[in-house]
Amino acid sequence: MVTVRAPGKVILFGEHAVVYGEPALAMAINKYVYVTARPRDDGKVTINASDLKLAGLYVTFLENGDLVARTDYGAVISALSYVRRAVELAMEYVGKRVGVDLTIRSEMPVGAGLGTSAAVAVATIASYVHALGYEISKRDLARLAWQVERDVQGAASPTDTAMATYGGVMFIRSVGGEAFMEPVKVDVDVPIIVGYVPRVSTTKELVSMVRSRLESMREVIEPIIKAIGMVSTMGRRALEEGDLKTMGQLMNINHGLLVALGVSTKQLDDMVYAARAAGALGAKLSGAGGGGIMIALSDRVEVEKAIEIVGGSAFRASLNTKGVEVVSED
Ligand code: MEV
Repeated sequence: MVTVRAPGKVILFGEHAVVYGEPALAMAINKYVYVTARPRDDGKVTINASDLKLAGLYVTFLENGDLVARTDYGAVISALSYVRRAVELAMEYVGKRVGVDLTIRSEMPVGAGLGTSAAVAVATIASYVHALGYEISKRDLARLAWQVERDVQGAASPTDTAMATYGGVMFIRSVGGEAFMEPVKVDVDVPIIVGYVPRVSTTKELVSMVRSRLESMREVIEPIIKAIGMVSTMGRRALEEGDLKTMGQLMNINHGLLVALGVSTKQLDDMVYAARAAGALGAKLSGAGGGGIMIALSDRVEVEKAIEIVGGSAFRASLNTKGVEVVSED
């Protein structure tokens, strides 16, 4: 039996602008998806994901036998499809179809923008391969997990699966449909508080809304996108220098620019302003927007409380540097 954990991630700077070739900065956090794999000798695959958190809603289900979902919860089915594809690819990787009992647990809400589906894919493949006594390089793991995301979603950037695999902070740029990721050296602790509310729009809707604004008001929107790219570059420098104060200011600017693009919501703005008023060095929405998550640069309980007072759920997190790892084995 092997238990593997893979971290979630937040986008520190650059969401949406990254779609237009500007850089973004992503950070793996110390909140994890855990997958335990126990091989079984009858060839069956069972999935127990009784602890998957769905953006505030807790769902219990147990899947026995073949990988068939017997539940009405769309988000659970979606999480299951990542597990199913990950198991298939892991079986192909080891060249055997050995049955397995999988137990999946997430410390993060699913579907909020924290990269949980990528972490599920990475941890499922790694636990299966290790439980059967094989090794897999991080490079192969990131490649297979990215394939899981593409097969399930149709299209996916390799960012989330790379963050769940390698951890740390990455400077990301996408040129001609290809993503380039550069690890950023960070010597300071980066305390953040994540606030979240249910999503009201999908990433796809928001990305296409920004595109139509860009097309109809290019003179106004293009400079905003370029400014976000510059914020990412300066944010990277501030982080490398351990200058959290400047980083916080840049987060505030980044949030303002995302508001200008139209991807924030009142609930996200309320959490951002509440966090700043409670003493955070900076705060911004993180990810696609339209609800989902915001991040505050702070380790203060007051900030966590302030986010909750305005209606969000909140938890503390910090930098994860290791990426995916085996946490127990017997
Ligand atoms: C979503 O997490 C980040 C976006 O920039 C979309 C993307 O980069 O694919 C909004």
